[in-house]
Amino acid sequence: MNFFLLSSLLCLLTPSAMAFVPTHTSSFGVHHTKSSSAPSSSSSSLYESKDGGLVLDTNFDGVNLVRLMGLKKVKKIVRKSKRNQNMVLSATTSDDSVAETVDTTASSDSAASSPLKLIIAGAPASGKGTQCEIIKDKYGVVHLSTGDMLRAAVAAGTEVGKSAKEFMDAGKLVPDSVIIGVVKDRLAESDCTDKGWLLDGFPRTPAQAEALAEQGVTADCFLFLNVPDEILVERVVGRRTDPETGKIYHMTFSPPPADDEELLGRLVHRSDDTEEKVKVRLEQFHANVEAVKGSYTDISVDIDGTSKPDVVSKAIDEAIAYKVPSAAA
Ligand code: AP5
Repeated sequence: MNFFLLSSLLCLLTPSAMAFVPTHTSSFGVHHTKSSSAPSSSSSSLYESKDGGLVLDTNFDGVNLVRLMGLKKVKKIVRKSKRNQNMVLSATTSDDSVAETVDTTASSDSAASSPLKLIIAGAPASGKGTQCEIIKDKYGVVHLSTGDMLRAAVAAGTEVGKSAKEFMDAGKLVPDSVIIGVVKDRLAESDCTDKGWLLDGFPRTPAQAEALAEQGVTADCFLFLNVPDEILVERVVGRRTDPETGKIYHMTFSPPPADDEELLGRLVHRSDDTEEKVKVRLEQFHANVEAVKGSYTDISVDIDGTSKPDVVSKAIDEAIAYKVPSAAA
């Protein structure tokens, strides 16, 4: 055992150090990007998540603490520190220094008074729509899917729909000039300003991200669903949607009820959900994703989207609770 390292670790695990944000985590399928309001420090190695689990930066100053000390020992230290932290908080709530400690755990304090604003991003079929159904019910935000908005515009034969149709049919992104205005107008409507919003599939290009920033539109949390391309093709091909309820199914992973003939009869297989078109959609996605993510590094959380939907949903809740403590579900 490296005694010096252990002493350093114990020193670091003061209440304020516990508020630090890890730059890499090895568990929960969540990768938190460093928050803008968290203290910037290379000592961000360990903290306990809301449900009591250990979240750990395995590359603590280049040293893998778990490998060096053993998971059991590291956990014990964290729990002891947590107990000390609670004692300090209850004993000295009027102390300024404690108020500062509490403040540093809130990554987005402005959200306490304003409605929740979320962006969810990820490749085609990464599960954005599936998770949005859950998020909007849980947090009461308005779900704005640009894909749904465009499909509705195409079906209604509006000018936007006419401009978008050929691009969508080809699996390509519709021009920024077509979609940006639509989203800007929608975000300004009273249901969004009152209840908050969940942007799904926008921004998808650097120009779209810039357009939001220029309008002063900021989000509290950018949720990014990570799913490798090879899994996405299977998800796309098996997807079916109920046009009446908007519910999303998958013929293998999340099948519709086999005895509901009415539902089975009306299920839609999207015209861009073919192997051929998903390749184009993936190309467009990969050409833009890094630049878009780069606009949200302060509020970005990577989620492992390969797990089952309920596990992904739990990771999303954790991410929101972490970035916007006042919004915890
Ligand atoms: P859009 O409708 O946004 O399509 P997309 O981004 O390609 O995303 P998808 O709707 O295909 O997938 P998803 O991530 O919502 O996955 P889902 O939950 O359904 O856009 C369509 C088109 O519109 C674009 O190609 C473009 O032309 C245009 N467009 C839209 N926005 C634009 C913009 N901002 N700029 C320019 N053009 C724009 O899940 C997929 C399947 O997987 C389902 O069957 C589901 O049941 C299953 N599934 C979900 N989660 C899991 C899981 N965890 N495990 C196993 N299966 C799962």
